[in-house]
Amino acid sequence: MTDVSAPHPTAAESGAAATQRFVTDKPASLAATPKERVDAIAREVLAAVHDTIRKHRVTYEEYNALKAWLIQVGQDGEWPLFCDVWLEHVVEEVAHADRKGSKGTIEGPYYAPSAPELGADATLPMRDGEKGTPLLFQGQVRALDGTPLRGVKCESVHADDDGYYSQFAPGIPQWNLRGTITAGADGRITIRTIQPAPYQIPTDGSCGKLIAAAGWHAWRPAHLHLMISADGYLPITTQLYFPGDPHNDDDVASAVKPELMLELTPAADGNGRQTSYDFVLDPA
Ligand code: DHB
Ligand code: FE
Repeated sequence: MTDVSAPHPTAAESGAAATQRFVTDKPASLAATPKERVDAIAREVLAAVHDTIRKHRVTYEEYNALKAWLIQVGQDGEWPLFCDVWLEHVVEEVAHADRKGSKGTIEGPYYAPSAPELGADATLPMRDGEKGTPLLFQGQVRALDGTPLRGVKCESVHADDDGYYSQFAPGIPQWNLRGTITAGADGRITIRTIQPAPYQIPTDGSCGKLIAAAGWHAWRPAHLHLMISADGYLPITTQLYFPGDPHNDDDVASAVKPELMLELTPAADGNGRQTSYDFVLDPA
């Protein structure tokens, strides 16, 4: 069997990759936001920080430690990580509050566009002897009234059995455990893969320093990332979770929702586990 062990990734490596990915894929600008709105939001954020400084009588020593830490987050490339772990879940909550279909959750920093096209019955690219419990995922994508949708595309990505993502941890082939699934007229998708392991956000960088200094933990429960779209419907970005994971109740990124829990049974062919999950999209 091929040795599939990868060197342990460092925060600097995955942080730099996540920052590069964000800058390349999501060029962002404040230009479209009216200045009244920027003024209100910036002022309220600053006022909340001022109140916290007063309430806790923050010292000059602590203020300088904060400045050093903020500088280090940038040097480690960990702003995408910081934002996606501690802020994105509320942005997602606000953005999708009016949706009637399936729940979304955070995207996180490890998406990469243009994953290989695999058809409707997909085996995600994996290494020879990829470690982990085989997983068969089946799903159907429907409208609110239950009609199967046409033109369904599902991008799927997840961590490997060590909790590492291709393109963000070293030594993993580029498209490992990443794929684009295109359903037929019945809106059904099949994904053959392995079950991901829980993921720990990098502990050796500045986000890890905050976690250690505050006595928190760095774990996200194991999850599958799925981005589902269909012609004429609002796309959803979501994650699905595995029952019994010790971190389902205290995800560092606060992204777990009860509706996103999978039910697993032993696979019919005796090889690993199987699960199904149906997605309902809101009309555009
Ligand atoms: C982070 C990582 C993830 O895999 C994820 O799904 C969400 C957030 C992160 O490290 O920020
Ligand atoms: Fe993830």
